[in-house]
Amino acid sequence: MPIYNLNVNNQAVSVDAPANMALLWVLRDKLGITGPKYGCGLDVCKACTCLVNGKAVSTCAVKISEVANKKVTTIEGLANGSTLHPVQQAWLDRDVPQCGFCQPGQIMAAVDLLSRTRTPTDADIDAIENMCRCGTYGRIREAIRAAAAMMP
Ligand code: FES
Ligand code: FES
Repeated sequence: MPIYNLNVNNQAVSVDAPANMALLWVLRDKLGITGPKYGCGLDVCKACTCLVNGKAVSTCAVKISEVANKKVTTIEGLANGSTLHPVQQAWLDRDVPQCGFCQPGQIMAAVDLLSRTRTPTDADIDAIENMCRCGTYGRIREAIRAAAAMMP
């Protein structure tokens, strides 16, 4: 199998994997990074959301061959040492999660949004397609606004 080099959470990694292996399975099964979750495998639920070169993507729908030499960030790579990312802190402060399954993806989608604007409108937040079976959307909205206020 081919070897792919990429940067995951600020560490250079080499992965021996089939070219069509989904990034989600590379992360979870080959690298043991289990923050990104498998929900649908169809680019619908977004539970698998991570950042590739800073942009939110569904990792179930991205092949390892498409991310060679790119920078991948999972929720495990958001904190700066013991200091949480403002989005993570806002999520804790607002007690957002219920079952928690969708939340790593929700947080990564929020990080992507706030990298594009610090003043997201309701429409910007509603454009996040990540699904939550527990219906935490109201608290997600509050937490995104709180995180924006905390960010420089
Ligand atoms: S697992 Fe549902 S979009 Fe990736
Ligand atoms: S917190 Fe349960 S699915 Fe979102």
